[in-house]
Amino acid sequence: IRTKCEKDETKMCVEMLASNNLVTFDGLANSSAYHTFLLDEEKGRLVVGAKDHIFSFNLLNISKDYAQISWPASPTRRDECKWAGKDLSRECSNFIKVLQPFNQTHLYVCGTGAFHPVCSYLEVGKKPEDSVFRLEPHVENGRGKSPYDPKLLTASMLIDGELYAGTSADFMGRDFAIFRTLGKHHPIRTEQHDSRWLNDPRFVGVHLIPESDNPEDDKIYLFFRENAMDGEHVGKATHARIGQLCKNDLGGHRSLVNKWTTFLKARLICSVPGSNGIDTHFDELQDVFLMSTKDPKSPVIYAVFTTSSNIFKGSAVCMYSMTDIRRVFLGPYAHRDGPNYQWVPFQGRVPYPRPGTCPSKTFGGFDTTKDLPDEVVTFARSHPAMFNPVYPINNRPIIVKTDVDYQFTQIVVDKVEAEDGQYDVMFIGTDIGTILKVVSIPRGSWHDLEEVLLEEMTVFREPTAIKAMELSTKQQQLYLGSDIGVSQMPLHRCEVYGKACAECCLARDPYCAWDGTECSRYFPMAKRRTRRQDIRNGDPLTQCSDLQHHDELNGQMTLLDKTVYGVENSSTFLECNPKSQRALTYWQYQRSFDDHKQEIRSDERFIRTEQGLLIRTLHKKDSGIYLCQAVEHGFMQTLLKVTLEVIDTNRLEELLHHDEEAAASAPAQDLPSTPSHKLWYRDFLSLVNHPTLNSVDEFCEQVWKRERKHRKQKAHLVQQVQIHQQQQQQQQQKGVVNPHTHMHAQGLAAKWKHLQERQKGRNRRTHELERAPRSV
Ligand SMILES: *[C@@H]1O[C@H](CO)[C@@H](O)[C@H](O)[C@H]1NC(C)=O
Ligand SMILES: *[C@@H]1O[C@H](CO)[C@@H](O)[C@H](O)[C@H]1NC(C)=O
Ligand SMILES: *[C@@H]1O[C@H](CO)[C@@H](O)[C@H](O)[C@H]1NC(C)=O
Ligand SMILES: *[C@@H]1O[C@H](CO)[C@@H](O)[C@H](O)[C@H]1NC(C)=O
Repeated sequence: IRTKCEKDETKMCVEMLASNNLVTFDGLANSSAYHTFLLDEEKGRLVVGAKDHIFSFNLLNISKDYAQISWPASPTRRDECKWAGKDLSRECSNFIKVLQPFNQTHLYVCGTGAFHPVCSYLEVGKKPEDSVFRLEPHVENGRGKSPYDPKLLTASMLIDGELYAGTSADFMGRDFAIFRTLGKHHPIRTEQHDSRWLNDPRFVGVHLIPESDNPEDDKIYLFFRENAMDGEHVGKATHARIGQLCKNDLGGHRSLVNKWTTFLKARLICSVPGSNGIDTHFDELQDVFLMSTKDPKSPVIYAVFTTSSNIFKGSAVCMYSMTDIRRVFLGPYAHRDGPNYQWVPFQGRVPYPRPGTCPSKTFGGFDTTKDLPDEVVTFARSHPAMFNPVYPINNRPIIVKTDVDYQFTQIVVDKVEAEDGQYDVMFIGTDIGTILKVVSIPRGSWHDLEEVLLEEMTVFREPTAIKAMELSTKQQQLYLGSDIGVSQMPLHRCEVYGKACAECCLARDPYCAWDGTECSRYFPMAKRRTRRQDIRNGDPLTQCSDLQHHDELNGQMTLLDKTVYGVENSSTFLECNPKSQRALTYWQYQRSFDDHKQEIRSDERFIRTEQGLLIRTLHKKDSGIYLCQAVEHGFMQTLLKVTLEVIDTNRLEELLHHDEEAAASAPAQDLPSTPSHKLWYRDFLSLVNHPTLNSVDEFCEQVWKRERKHRKQKAHLVQQVQIHQQQQQQQQQKGVVNPHTHMHAQGLAAKWKHLQERQKGRNRRTHELERAPRSV
């Protein structure tokens, strides 16, 4: 493992796999496709379905005492499969696709059975001590439960003895449907051979979400992607969908017999506006995760998408609210008068009860779907789709990732209690076997979230797509499945965030806090005043300054929200010097607080150096916020946030001719009313009053010392305001300020070139998350 990883350092492979936090099950030689997971926290087991096998792992340590059952297809089935033209080794096996809790002692399990789906019951016992793991010999037909083809997916859920499954139900993989089987009712499914209902779908998830406090209104929601309906899109396109059904739907009486009468679907949009006015759509829905809230009727839906384009590779995460989803299902139905017509919102009279409403006392006043008036069933049959799509919360993705050689595949989200509130931490799986751990932090308001990448980890010994993911809050572990095996990793590794309060704080990992001696797991229940954490701002000044560790701070760290003034056509240097050699720094610029951040690239005027950012020939438009970010061992920290104000020369002139004494006694009056301005003005005067003071460093050192004294224990970064005199400007070209800076700049240019080369390699590792453009 080590050697393989060392060849490929960009993936942080060595670091991760070498750390003993990751536990892996490397798979059996005669198995693969560890894709079907069932987490049982009560029994402390993770049941995994794979090729020809079912495993039961100990949640504490998956490699410790696992049990396995082999359930291959019979030799006869394998032969039949081969004769039907399928690949014996890759397709003619029993790939486990369904694993659902059935009753207190048994699970329901289905597999492809070498293109002949089969199901059975798996005994797991009632209590953990029972340690039973046994497959019942009795086998049932698995049609409408598991697909025939192992490449196809099934989204399934077993509730009240009934199995809901979105799958394909034939050998050819053409008859896709949403089925309900098992239980006391006749099996029921979606209308067959009607592409308006389903058009070559791929199901990714199914969930029950209550609609009211009355269980009669319970709805089943399915998440899938499919081909756009005929006439819905020019050319071939994939659309992401959410479909709904009533749990108590029994089908129609005369029409839609044993078919759903309450099925409706709507498109899920996840897109970003393009510079050319054309939106970039992420349509290939890959996975969904429902984050519960206080109200069981309104979970937040997290969905992972990729693009359909072969040229443009990208992934995105969008969030949806149930309010928006219900509004769309209560909105206009998509309607068209014939095959050559456009889809339009249905304007006519909608029959009563409104199709899609569950039979219940709450809304309908009818007892079963068999009692629905014929016109309702007829309308439902021809109007399965809603006209309006569902837009994500805030109309944009919360994460967009493009220009990388991987795509997102899976997501799970954990709600974490931190000192300053609750945070959703996302674990995103990729198709190269890595996990991104990302936290959304509100900036000011809930509608403005900032995503911070906390860690990126390689969890498999070779690049392989993560196909299954479960999170155990009880164990504080994440479990991952791929073609090659199963891995287990802790949700937090607070110890990687260093040995200082500031680093722990800057990591902004809501799982971790400084406990006085080390960075460790934060427990909101333990009300210990010594715990230090600040997720929202990651500000160690407020959190750590009274601790013994200010040495750490003084040497290195932040002075957030500092204002610096520069003079038009002169230069300025924003120092940002991370303590660690391994940290990669980069700069972001924001015109104003709520504006979109952009990375500053080096050019003629902006020179990134190891010590900071040199801005030559300041322009008025350079005013704004500069953020210096450092990325190291998987976490990102904002080292510095400077507001730069560029003052034009005329204004400077005014200031210079102002009576000095008056200015000294009432310095703030003529100046912009920023609190820190007083300080600057005084510093500025001391600079112009000492023309002999050539070295800006010298000058800054003085200012720095004074401030340090003034602020006592508060730490900060050196801010160098470089202001030149007009005579100097005439002698110098390109606006480089004084001899000191000029020399500095030349040396730096060479250094910078070198740095660029080094950073190219490093950037791959850091995987900065792009922030999606605001609004559509
Ligand atoms: C696969 O190999 C394991 C031993 O590693 C064995 O126990 C199991 O029965 C084999 N499975 C099949 C389907 O042959
Ligand atoms: C898990 O179990 C394996 C095998 O017993 C052991 O080598 C390993 O150290 C354990 N890992 C952890 C994190 O407990
Ligand atoms: C659960 O279902 C299985 C399979 O039908 C059955 O054999 C078993 O007795 C049931 N267990 C309980 C506790 O009902
Ligand atoms: C700044 O420099 C540019 C180019 O050298 C010049 O055109 C401009 O007038 C200068 N602005 C001021 C305010 O001196």
